[in-house]
Amino acid sequence: LDNGLARTPPMGWMAWERFRCNVNCTEDPENCLSEKLIKKMADRMVSLGLLDVGYEYVSIDDCWPTKERDSNGRLVPDPTRFPSGMKALGDYLHSKGLKFGIYEDFGTKTCGGFPGSEFYMSTDANTFAEWGVDMLKFDGCYSNINDMEIGYPTMEFFLNKTGRPILFSCSWPAYTQGIKTDYKLIRENCNMWRNYADIQDSWDSTYGIINHYGINKDGFSAFAGPGGWNDPDELIVGNFGLSYEQERAHMGMWAMMASPLFMSVDLRSIRNQSLALLKNKRLIAINQDPLGTQGRRVWKESDVELWVKPLQTEGSLAIALLNSGNQGTPKRLSLPALSLMLTNPLGYNLTEAFDGASMGSVFPNDTLKFSLNPTGILMMTAVPKVSSANLLMSLIFGQ
Ligand code: DGJ
Repeated sequence: LDNGLARTPPMGWMAWERFRCNVNCTEDPENCLSEKLIKKMADRMVSLGLLDVGYEYVSIDDCWPTKERDSNGRLVPDPTRFPSGMKALGDYLHSKGLKFGIYEDFGTKTCGGFPGSEFYMSTDANTFAEWGVDMLKFDGCYSNINDMEIGYPTMEFFLNKTGRPILFSCSWPAYTQGIKTDYKLIRENCNMWRNYADIQDSWDSTYGIINHYGINKDGFSAFAGPGGWNDPDELIVGNFGLSYEQERAHMGMWAMMASPLFMSVDLRSIRNQSLALLKNKRLIAINQDPLGTQGRRVWKESDVELWVKPLQTEGSLAIALLNSGNQGTPKRLSLPALSLMLTNPLGYNLTEAFDGASMGSVFPNDTLKFSLNPTGILMMTAVPKVSSANLLMSLIFGQ
């Protein structure tokens, strides 16, 4: 969507995967979806340095309003959980330098059974703009999927009409997958779009999404770029279900896939190791590379697969070797550099992507040896030793 937003994959925190539809503040006051929780997460985003590395949106998900609209047809935040109201919450986030994300649904009800936007799109867009909302996640429960091609662009029309820049996150292709998905139209109307099942707190779920992106049905990868991104769903780094090795693979692959980076984790209690992964500047730089190309799976041989993401600096690549299997011992690999797409005859400088350590020079005819942990990742960047202008000269004049 060409609205000036999301020129690189958006980054932030999102309530859903970790906090779900917990509305029970009586019994679980610290973890229910409330302004208290959202403010606490916002404070932690700033104090932990997450805002400094780019995480800026704080996005409330399903289950925030009352079950009925008011007499003017407007949405009302639940008064016990959001007693100060949404405008005040938005002001609070903005005062911290953060951005305010909210959730609604294209259909008659949200997935959690709260009022949906169907028949109220104009009203809701205006309400969100008045509250200072900077991002809308627009879900697709309780709707007719045949209406989506008209309905999602209609909501974008009303958002745009408010005059407030509001990032538009569409769940549209997640609902139409396997039926009819017009990615060109989606890209024209959305800044990011979910196109697969919800992430759950497990490696199976995480790898299921990676594999879906590897299969790349309908060629959806090609539609990612500045202004619009495929969204494989939130980051679950720092929760309960992944080992450290799997968290590295998850974070690394979300960088490779130019994914929006929305952490869904309790920032009051996150482990240091997981926090460091989320803050890894080298991985974030790969994810945020201005070229905005989504990495693709180049090959897969049993459990080992190669992903490549072209980077803006000419001829540079981010490369990932992923071992999706959990056979309990590292796999020893011996691979020709050419099989990693390292084709430049003048060679590359290789750098390990997580810690920035130099891995030396490599030429297309070299053989590279790696040890790849179970459910683990090896990731590196490759920068050509000379620019393509020099390369051209060397091809013409022979070195
Ligand atoms: C389905 C979406 O895919 C999830 O991310 C979440 O927003 C839930 N609905 C909320 O009900």
